[in-house]
Amino acid sequence: MNVCVIGVGYVGLVTGAVFADLGNEVFCVDNDKRKIDTLNRGEMPIYEPGLKEMVKRNVDDGRLVFTTNLSKGVKTAKVIFIAVGTPPKPNGESDLSAVEAVAKEIALNLDDYKIVVNKSTVPVGTGNLVRNIIEKHRRSDVEFDVVSNPEFLKEGSAIADCLNPDRIVIGVPNHHVAMALLELYAPLERTMLITDVESAEVIKYASNAFLATKISFINFIANLCERAGADVSLVAKGMGTDSRIGKEFLQAGLGYGGSCFPKDTLSLLHTAKKFGEDASILESVIAINQDRVPRFVRRIVARLKPLNRKVIAVLGLAFKPNTDDLRDAKSLEIIKALQKKNAVIKVYDPVAMDNARSILKGVTFCKNAYEAARGADALIVVTDWNEFKLLNLEKLHQEMRGNFIFDGRNIYSKERVESAGFEYHCIGKQ
Ligand code: UGA
Repeated sequence: MNVCVIGVGYVGLVTGAVFADLGNEVFCVDNDKRKIDTLNRGEMPIYEPGLKEMVKRNVDDGRLVFTTNLSKGVKTAKVIFIAVGTPPKPNGESDLSAVEAVAKEIALNLDDYKIVVNKSTVPVGTGNLVRNIIEKHRRSDVEFDVVSNPEFLKEGSAIADCLNPDRIVIGVPNHHVAMALLELYAPLERTMLITDVESAEVIKYASNAFLATKISFINFIANLCERAGADVSLVAKGMGTDSRIGKEFLQAGLGYGGSCFPKDTLSLLHTAKKFGEDASILESVIAINQDRVPRFVRRIVARLKPLNRKVIAVLGLAFKPNTDDLRDAKSLEIIKALQKKNAVIKVYDPVAMDNARSILKGVTFCKNAYEAARGADALIVVTDWNEFKLLNLEKLHQEMRGNFIFDGRNIYSKERVESAGFEYHCIGKQ
């Protein structure tokens, strides 16, 4: 099938590569010429395991094309995916200006029946909005349909998630339209759920907000465990073995970051308010998450005060492992708070260092964890990279001046860290 994906961000790029890998002819369009040039040189604008190889294979075979030529992409395709960004406005509302601009461009190039698919995360009602824009700007009475097909991939495991999704949600205005999407996704042999457009739009936000709720809930329990002398890891295990609860997304820590949960919870909150619905459940989820870093910093300060000129090694900058993404990363928030108290910051991340250089000021970038630890008074774990779990703690201890570890992701066991000579502080346990 001929497919056009507009917007070569995380979702668009991975979706385009996977559709091409399934044997479709895919045009990936972006108005950022630099990004398209980068991709045409065979370089990836993001770090995602397996992506580079998949892109190369399909570009070499001629099934995957990167271009700024939206007109050609739209005219060639039967199905057009909109996968542009929907960043938050200051009031939490999703900024749909990129979606609106693309809808207009599609309308101006509509020469034949097309299926326009919203893959961007967009609030309920956006399907209608896109439909209205295309109707207004199309040059003739060419037919088209607008579908909602939200994406559920996670950064760091995007290819695997895209190839093996738990479910594929297709929100359609009529069942006839669903056939083309069913055909496109059929090779994956996964569960497909056909809904109306509005339900599909809500499913995306409800899923992300529910996962964020699980995280904030376990972080609230972690706070309680710290006071009551319980161990949140054991509590999460005990809860998670109940199949109705499930063990995923019950890892207590510094809270959720990244480009999705913070933005999507705020957007859903805005939508609920717009419809006049009480959303205090979401307000609590967001408030708990926003207090994770201040609470962690308070614990560091309480033990190390005064922080003035104390050297702190920060392990992990990416918002989670297996990505170089720093959007809404807890590291940035923590480093800013510690710098405000005049701490000296040394940092290391396995893949996010290049991205961090343009964002972080006044820190020392180190080649590895041991170099970051050299001369430090305390070491803090911000991202749970596997590499950090396997560090030689005795060697780390020898490198340091002080002996504190503040483990924001509970990657170590207290016994192991203490036997290496450290004083250990973690989340949700003594
Ligand atoms: C999330 C969803 O998991 C995807 O299903 C969705 O498609 C995506 O948003 C999106 O809307 O595009 P992602 O943001 O890539 O994916 O990352 P997650 O793995 O969900 O992690 C989000 C944050 O929650 C990270 O900061 C992570 O450290 C944190 N987290 C996750 C916890 O603190 N505890 C957990 O138990 C799990």
